[in-house]
Amino acid sequence: MNDSYMQNLFAERIGGKNYGKSTAIYKFEKIKRAKRAALAAHPGAEIFDLGVGEPDEMAFPEVVAKLDEEARRPENRGYADNGDSVLKEAAARYLDRVCGVKGINPETEVLHSIGSKAALSILPAALVNPGDYVLMTTPGYPVFGTHSKYYGGLVHQLPLLEQNGFLPDLESIPKDVLARSKVLVLNYPNNPTGASATPEFFARVVAFAKANRLIVLHDAAYAALVFEGKPLSFLATPGAKDVGVELHSTSKSFNMTGWRCGFVAGNELLVRAYGDVKDNSDSGQFLAIQHAAAYCLDHPEITEKIAAKYSRRMTGLVNVLQKCGFKAVKPKGSFFLYVKAPLAATSGKGARLEFKNAEEVSQWLITEKLISTVPWDDAGSYLRFSVTFAAKGQDDEERVLDEIGKRLGEVRFEF
Ligand SMILES: Cc1ncc(COP(=O)(O)O)c(C=O)c1O
Repeated sequence: MNDSYMQNLFAERIGGKNYGKSTAIYKFEKIKRAKRAALAAHPGAEIFDLGVGEPDEMAFPEVVAKLDEEARRPENRGYADNGDSVLKEAAARYLDRVCGVKGINPETEVLHSIGSKAALSILPAALVNPGDYVLMTTPGYPVFGTHSKYYGGLVHQLPLLEQNGFLPDLESIPKDVLARSKVLVLNYPNNPTGASATPEFFARVVAFAKANRLIVLHDAAYAALVFEGKPLSFLATPGAKDVGVELHSTSKSFNMTGWRCGFVAGNELLVRAYGDVKDNSDSGQFLAIQHAAAYCLDHPEITEKIAAKYSRRMTGLVNVLQKCGFKAVKPKGSFFLYVKAPLAATSGKGARLEFKNAEEVSQWLITEKLISTVPWDDAGSYLRFSVTFAAKGQDDEERVLDEIGKRLGEVRFEF
């Protein structure tokens, strides 16, 4: 078929004339295809999906009831634009009560987002000029970097290595890159490593940002999902508000991925700039959803219940994987367990298979064991297991974990 004239009109940032012609298959598509093939090869068999990056359950009934009530109010029906004060005030209370962040001004230092992904796609427009560097951690959630590149920005990747507790080595940034850098993006508890930051690390980040005139964006999508103690907010660090903002989301902490609601809080000027671009990008999240999200922020015990479930599942999964030889260590938060990928596997029948990388392991696990994980080969080869696998109650959860143990127990792994 001849190309339509349209083929020549795409922007270079999405491939220009070659847009849509690539035959490369990306990681998540490969996983999907392998799952489909495994099911076709084993009709009726149960696949355990530990690859999903979102909660397995619905929002709590009281939150759904709040949405129902708010959706019926005529005054909530229209464009929300940059929002009313309900979510802003709840966010400031939440930061104070749950994270110990004092003195956030709800009117000037908080603004809602249609989820953190949307905020991460909006913020580059406010900050990145062509040729500016942004500092991102790898492996990681790439959205801010992708949009920065759309604006002509450059991404410098900071590897998250086990020997550094999966915290970036800020001293490793080449001087010329640092001189042209504007933004440092962090995410703790981290996707995919499950690692948590420390107050000391955040204090170093604030000092580093001030010394090098950097803006810090802390993506706190998993911040509230902690297995012990209180959530650690970057904004609780002295001086943090001088250098950055933090992005919170109801997606993971309140089982509300589809609802699309979160907030950006911190430095007033940055919040204002985010609001100015946002105002030109969307017309705000439905006020009924914002008000239901505000209800959540005033009920952090919901998150505590969700985190307790993940903590229990995580303990079970760590035990199962340890018994099979994986060096699994329970993280302090999130729902991700990040473990070194094996180099080889010998099955019960004696066949030994070597793996080049985590992607090969992940494909093999789906095909041979019907266990889905997400491979990461960006900084070492690791598998990400998520404890958001489907299970109906605690007994079923134990059954799933036992079955995973049986399937993996038939194999001798080499690391
Ligand atoms: C690190 C990280 N940030 C942001 C998001 C997106 O969150 P939201 O649903 O609030 O857009 C995700 C979702 O997977 C994530 O893992």
